[in-house]
Amino acid sequence: MDLPDVEPARFRDVLGRFCSGITVVTASLDGRPTGMTCQSFMSLSLDPPLVAFAPAVTSTSYPTIREAGHFAANVLAADQAEVATKFARSGGDKFAGTRWRQEVTGAPLLDGTVAHIECELVEEYRIGDHLLVVGRVVALTGHQDATPLLFFRGSFGALSGGAGPGAPER
Ligand SMILES: Cc1cc2nc3c(=O)[nH]c(=O)nc-3n(C[C@H](O)[C@H](O)[C@H](O)COP(=O)(O)O)c2cc1C
Repeated sequence: MDLPDVEPARFRDVLGRFCSGITVVTASLDGRPTGMTCQSFMSLSLDPPLVAFAPAVTSTSYPTIREAGHFAANVLAADQAEVATKFARSGGDKFAGTRWRQEVTGAPLLDGTVAHIECELVEEYRIGDHLLVVGRVVALTGHQDATPLLFFRGSFGALSGGAGPGAPER
């Protein structure tokens, strides 16, 4: 079957309409914290409990996460757009000015989030220009009363009624 190709710009425009939450995926190697903002986080399996995220093959943070063998998905709250922007920059001290702690895996758990999901890194697949990284969930916490940061068409927002930066008007 001779099916058409799609233009990257159109792919971005249309897929950007898939609204999601935002995570910062973190790990710690030899006492040094690393992290990157990821929209591509998802729940994958209940039994066993698995989640996944997709770092670009060009990510400079991901090789450290792989070597650490663990990661935490920090699900950002509506007032953490600045945190998302900070962890989306390559290089520099992304953790400066951000409070965090370590619990089960050693991966940094950022303060003020909606949830923390700690994982053992168990699988990695190369898919196109990204990797699909699978983690076995070993510990997780949801924080009461926190509302999530959303990402839609290249902008941050919040649920209607939530106090998020750039929240669309009702
Ligand atoms: C809202 C948002 C979502 C992002 N989601 C992803 C993602 O799912 N996968 C990815 O590789 N990069 C994603 N990025 C870009 C990375 O955060 C960024 O390229 C990375 O932190 C660069 O740093 P590194 O070179 O240290 O990996 C996202 C950026 C933003 C602003």
